[in-house]
Amino acid sequence: MSELKKIAVLGGGTMGNGIAQICAAAGYEVSLVEVDQVALDRALGRIKDSLARFVKSGKMTQEVADSTHRSIRPVTSFADIGNEVDMVIEAVPEVLDIKKSVFEMLSRETQPGTILATNTSQLSITNIASAASRPEDVIGVHFFNPPVLMRLVEVIRGVKTSDRALETVLGLVTRLGKEAAVCKRDTVGFITTRAATALRLECLRMYEEGVASIEDIDRAMRLGFNHPMGPFELNDYNGLDVAYNGAKSLREAYGERFAPPQSLTARVAAGMLGRKTGQGWYDHSGEKPVPIN
Ligand SMILES: NC(=O)c1ccc[n+]([C@@H]2O[C@H](COP(=O)([O-])OP(=O)(O)OC[C@H]3O[C@@H](n4cnc5c(N)ncnc54)[C@H](O)[C@@H]3O)[C@@H](O)[C@H]2O)c1
Repeated sequence: MSELKKIAVLGGGTMGNGIAQICAAAGYEVSLVEVDQVALDRALGRIKDSLARFVKSGKMTQEVADSTHRSIRPVTSFADIGNEVDMVIEAVPEVLDIKKSVFEMLSRETQPGTILATNTSQLSITNIASAASRPEDVIGVHFFNPPVLMRLVEVIRGVKTSDRALETVLGLVTRLGKEAAVCKRDTVGFITTRAATALRLECLRMYEEGVASIEDIDRAMRLGFNHPMGPFELNDYNGLDVAYNGAKSLREAYGERFAPPQSLTARVAAGMLGRKTGQGWYDHSGEKPVPIN
């Protein structure tokens, strides 16, 4: 295990800004890398709002919030900081070609031994690592949304990931106050995305078979299993296109049991992608979401 001091988070979107925040709050020196100043300002604004919520709820003092915010160094060029950092956590969009070009660049711009972690939800770590000149330094570190609240970090070993990278990441997870679940074989969807997708797809099939309505399936899963959202509500929150693409890549790996149900395919084709387009499984135009059965 090696001692980490300086961490760069690449991508400050939904996941990256929260990951940068928790690393800074745990005392690491954090650089947040985005494509341009507009994206950086947006990410820093989200961190500020999140810290303000912690202060408001009494979980953090204003002084700690201010110093956490100040300690995050915003940058638009990774090349400027690459050889200074001990670890990079990549949180750019879930597109294999983008991840591969990022890991090729990361392995070029960092010193040997710098841990190169990806926050991918389901892509093969070994495949991403194949673009890097040092696949032994590449590892999956899958935070959950929102990273500032969710306690689980799924840690995924690629075929060539070193013991040192694994141990260092497990040390990081502990210092962040979170708990790790290690996926020791690099398989599409890891533990959580594979299991959760299977459950959600079965809920969609029950709806198609007329077993129950959208809102009753959501209620059953929320109240029966203590899920914060039902599968349809969650689809609307994350985007039906995200669910559809995720199912398609699990289908490639595991076969027809992960085939996207027709009702999902049709809504995606119709541009009903959930909250971001106003309609998905629910209509979000009114005060309360109304199911579109
Ligand atoms: N959103 C979730 O609920 C969730 C949960 C767990 C894991 N993930 C995974 O986390 C990763 C990021 O997802 P997200 O939802 O935060 O995406 P997002 O689209 O919200 O953010 C991605 C950010 O990356 C930036 N970016 C793109 N290319 C870049 C580059 N070369 N250098 C620096 N920044 C770059 C974009 O400007 C954008 O701000 C994905 O792999 C996703 O599968 C997402």
